[in-house]
Amino acid sequence: MDIKITKTTAPKAKPPVDSLGFGVYFTDHMFVMDYTKGNGWHDPQILPYGPIPMDPSCAVLHYGQAVFEGLKAYRTADNQVLLFRPYNNMNRINESNERLCIPQIDVDFAVEAIKKLVKIDQDWIPDAPGTALYIRPFIFAADPFLGVHPASTYKFIVILSPVGAYYKEGLNPVKIYVEDSYVRAVRGGMGFSKTAGNYAASLKAQEEAEKKGYTQVLWLDGVERKYIEEVGAMNIFFKIDGKVVTPALNGSILAGITRNSCLEILNSWGIDAKEAKISIQEVYEAYENGKLEEVFGTGTAAVISPVGELCWNGKKITINNGEIGPISQKLYDTITGLQSGKLEDTFNYTVKL
Ligand code: PLP
Ligand code: COI
Repeated sequence: MDIKITKTTAPKAKPPVDSLGFGVYFTDHMFVMDYTKGNGWHDPQILPYGPIPMDPSCAVLHYGQAVFEGLKAYRTADNQVLLFRPYNNMNRINESNERLCIPQIDVDFAVEAIKKLVKIDQDWIPDAPGTALYIRPFIFAADPFLGVHPASTYKFIVILSPVGAYYKEGLNPVKIYVEDSYVRAVRGGMGFSKTAGNYAASLKAQEEAEKKGYTQVLWLDGVERKYIEEVGAMNIFFKIDGKVVTPALNGSILAGITRNSCLEILNSWGIDAKEAKISIQEVYEAYENGKLEEVFGTGTAAVISPVGELCWNGKKITINNGEIGPISQKLYDTITGLQSGKLEDTFNYTVKL
């Protein structure tokens, strides 16, 4: 399929790099492609960024049949542009599509479309340390229809946003509230999918945690409220007695691409890093025994985010004196080094534009 390109005649001013924040500014163009039952995906276009017409009865507004992804483009010192594991993101959107009854997209075509869009807006890629161009592909049900039924028309859109750190703390440790009353997902539900409803389900707990002075919540399993799942926008890792562990994929957490990269990188360093079922009780016991060495979150937006404090059932624990630990720092340096082209990519994670 050829992508029809219409360039803007009114390019926007670029925001100052120190005011980027996360997801506030959007570039000059977007990618849009339509799906109609019988006709498949068609009419791929890159066009000026702007509002999209939508009927008030549009299915996604009522029943949330929507999926999304998040990945980043980075500028290297020699002015090349690198994407980090984009095929993984497009494979994952298809896994989410499957769960949400949304038609599959062609992974290679989607990556090509992302590359084309990023190329057109490449002047928007910031180059200051810790900044990147965030890429947000998403698909939603577009039928003007109020019946509860998988739609027969969809839109696949990609928008771009120059970003800085996701958390105001940057690389400083964040405080995380262990959620003991609300749940985000249960096995058999949609927890493993990157779908709008999972984030809607998280807002109330997130708001209450913020009021108590915490940055995000750590979810426990939805049945026994014992086993650790993930944080609002990241997966979670614990270093206990020299070994690193992250909750095993169980259908209710997102299979994070940064999580997978961290496991591979840690193991390449000879560090014992594995996926396992781990309870919050075990983490607190490790703390009591002086064996809880580091806790950190991983995600595209957050990269590596050290956790300095956990609060569970009113009991607060401080990890590594509230400072970033050596493994968290080394992982951050390695992942950002690979992403920005400073380190040789022996893992084959990056894709050149
Ligand atoms: N868990 C949730 C709920 C997320 O939203 C994200 C962010 O995408 C992650 C984990 C981390 O996933 P990834 O490393 O693929 O960005
Ligand atoms: C990401 O890390 O890409 C995310 O999507 C997290 C959040 C902004 C929802």
